Amino acid sequence: MTAAESPPFAQKPVSSASLESLFRELFPGRRFLVASNREPYEHLWSEEVGEVRVRMPPGGLTSALDPLLQALGGTWVAWGSGEADASVVDDSDSVRVPPDDPRYTLRRIWLTHHDIHRYYLGFSNQFLWPLCHLRPDLTRIRARYWERYRKVNRRFAEAIVDDVRGESAAVWFQDYHLALAPAYVRERRPDLTLAHFWHIPWPPVDIFRLAPHAERLLHGLMANDLVGFQLPTFCDNFLRCAQALTNAEIDWRERSVTSGGHTCHVRALPISIDIDAFRAAASGPTAEAQMERLRQRYLPGGGLVGIGVDRLDYSKGIPEKFKALEFLWERYPEFRERVTFVQVAVPSRTDIEAYDDLTQKVDRQTREINDRFGTDRWRPIHLIKQSLPADRLAVLYRLADFCIVSSLQDGMNLVAKEYVASQVDCRGLLLLSRFTGAAEEMSDATLINPYDPEQMAVDIRDALVLPAERKVEMMNTLQGSLSTIFDWMADVFCEWGGVTQARVRPARLADEGLEDDEEIVA
Ligand code: UDP
Ligand code: G6P
Repeated sequence: MTAAESPPFAQKPVSSASLESLFRELFPGRRFLVASNREPYEHLWSEEVGEVRVRMPPGGLTSALDPLLQALGGTWVAWGSGEADASVVDDSDSVRVPPDDPRYTLRRIWLTHHDIHRYYLGFSNQFLWPLCHLRPDLTRIRARYWERYRKVNRRFAEAIVDDVRGESAAVWFQDYHLALAPAYVRERRPDLTLAHFWHIPWPPVDIFRLAPHAERLLHGLMANDLVGFQLPTFCDNFLRCAQALTNAEIDWRERSVTSGGHTCHVRALPISIDIDAFRAAASGPTAEAQMERLRQRYLPGGGLVGIGVDRLDYSKGIPEKFKALEFLWERYPEFRERVTFVQVAVPSRTDIEAYDDLTQKVDRQTREINDRFGTDRWRPIHLIKQSLPADRLAVLYRLADFCIVSSLQDGMNLVAKEYVASQVDCRGLLLLSRFTGAAEEMSDATLINPYDPEQMAVDIRDALVLPAERKVEMMNTLQGSLSTIFDWMADVFCEWGGVTQARVRPARLADEGLEDDEEIVA
């Protein structure tokens, strides 16, 4: 069997159908709701007057969760950020998505100009994001950001309570924009089961304690029945913060925190991707022809192509990656005209100064490197500053001889996993920053330190000259380490279902005036 015929992914047989029955078994009679700031589909006006087009915003949260909602159905509550969003919703601000094959309901929350500036760009992305990515120097603390963060979180909570009405539900919050919403929902509906997944790192207590509202944020999250993090270290950091900064009781053996009579369990649940979707897109009927076109564009004279795919975010280490490539071409001239690098760099949070500075820096570096090493027939770096859809990314991933993920801090990094899943021919190399959650699972990647670009250049060189069989071997091992997003969801449901039953059952028995073992005998 060739490498292409034998995908060795670590597949447990969790299908979308079994996921649905798992949910019904663990959460009998409950509806499924997800809440995040970012929505999975944005409606935008197209060039043609009156026409609407749809875009999937880039980012790991939405790309990971959309296949799950498509499989499970349910309601996803999120900010309606598209300019034409309001024109397609019904009376309850909802629209069925995906638009061409509706599987679930997207309920939109409307944010005003001030909400966007203070809650999204302010507290979420100029305070929590840099703090959690260990960049306190980039935080900006403003009372009006916090006030608006509270208000918008309350609005999310109200929309959720309104959507649930008299029914029972399992509500799953996502990420750092909604740290307070669980407590607001809990106040109104103590009977609901609530979980939260924190997609980004949780910092050590010495960093988190500089949040003026640390205690409020922790209490917001502790209102959940379950809080999931990407790594055990982030769980420990969270529990230490709760211990140091609140009056809650920590049970280190159970990994739980109890406050005001409510217990919240904390678990490491590393997220993944829809492996089959990437593999299918990378090996679709037009993939070979597309790869040929891309080869003509990027490698007219032959050679190797490397890829980077990131939002233009300072946590991604793009300048560090470019510096390493500069060292590579400077110190190992044999790679000039032989190695071309394609960087997809999607503009993100562009109204924030730190992001604007980064964009300018990346533009400048690209120009300087291309001026320094480029020739009439070769451009060292191709910078693509636009968002590409997943199926086009999959073909680029398959084409690329190597992929560099150079994050300075990253909760997981799904690009690393998508690259591996799309390597149908098993010949690519993954150079992966040690400071990503993905590095914990993908030890057969070439692990790099983006803070040391000279060494990174050596690591790139060493990786590129590895024998072909060794590359196939490494890629096979990496593919074996991947599990699908459906398995992840099953893991989340099992943990969440377990803690929910442990909480709800004694309460129900007490209501019925029974002891725990009385019902078992009955
Ligand atoms: N992405 C995309 N189009 C692009 C660039 C990125 O759809 O042009 C997606 C990418 O496929 C991945 C996500 O954005 O699923 C990025 O996730 P990651 O975990 O790597 O980083 P994040 O942006 O969430 O910090
Ligand atoms: C990261 C965050 C997500 C966010 C995404 C894109 O993945 O964890 O919550 O949605 O970046 O960022 P944006 O600000 O455009 O939503």
